[in-house]
Amino acid sequence: MIDTVHDLAALRTRIAGWKRAGLRVGLVPTMGNLHAGHFSLVEALRARVDRVVASVFVNPTQFGPNEDFARYPRTPEQDAQGLAAASCDLLWLPSVEAMYPLGLHNTVTVRVPGITEVLDGAHRPGHFDGVATVVARLFNQVQPDVAAFGRKDYQQLAVIAHMIADLAFPVELLPVAIAREADGLAMSSRNQYLDADARARAPGIHRALCALRDAMQAGQPAAEASAHAIATLRDAGFEVDYVEVRAPDLSPHGEAQPAAVALAAARLGTTRLIDNLEFSLR
Ligand code: PAJ
Repeated sequence: MIDTVHDLAALRTRIAGWKRAGLRVGLVPTMGNLHAGHFSLVEALRARVDRVVASVFVNPTQFGPNEDFARYPRTPEQDAQGLAAASCDLLWLPSVEAMYPLGLHNTVTVRVPGITEVLDGAHRPGHFDGVATVVARLFNQVQPDVAAFGRKDYQQLAVIAHMIADLAFPVELLPVAIAREADGLAMSSRNQYLDADARARAPGIHRALCALRDAMQAGQPAAEASAHAIATLRDAGFEVDYVEVRAPDLSPHGEAQPAAVALAAARLGTTRLIDNLEFSLR
């Protein structure tokens, strides 16, 4: 059984005890329905800190009105068991009231400018405000020395890095590699929305990004390689939100730049999948 706390006072007592003992604390923020990708974040932190806290909170402020907040998979018992097996030390399981004590329409909101307006930010208005707002709260609640985030959500990682730097959070950011299924599909809680047919098509995103990388490494310009990836995905039954090549900091990619990241978001039916691939061009 993993030690689980639901209220802020109990959380603070645990953390204060550890800090008095000189222990370093790590945080893995999640929305639950945990899979091997999430557990790899716990693992990565365990090597760097003395105590690992995981939070599970399906954050209402980062979902748009027509998104999947209500049906987002909630599996608290399974999550607690998985975290115990991963040797996580504490599960922070706040209620909406504990996270937003003054009410959902009365929140202090953190908005990161610039990078939240492109890619997923352009397709999910307000999404990254909700993410930054809840992660700022989690940092203040847990006061971690290190916080782990997955490279799967590449833009989210950039938003959090910007927030940490600008608001001077004393938190070290630990980016963790994307965990994939054997066929290349990036692990995601949303994969279980896919029926058998969609599940068979879903690895097409990773394949399209690998082909895009290969084409660019063979000299094809980014615009052409992206257009080809979009066409391939459409042929495979995806509705494509975007496929874009950017510089690692998500600014526009210049021809002479030696590193790039290709990012994609596409839908199969009502399930929206995102993925990305970092690569070098030399
Ligand atoms: P969630 O989607 O549950 O993801 C929690 C963390 O796990 C994120 O840092 C995400 O990048 C990482 N992750 C998910 N799938 C991964 C995979 N296949 N490989 C590596 N890491 C993976 O991201 C969120 O929740 C929320 O936006 C949150 C940050 C918790 C704020 O509410």
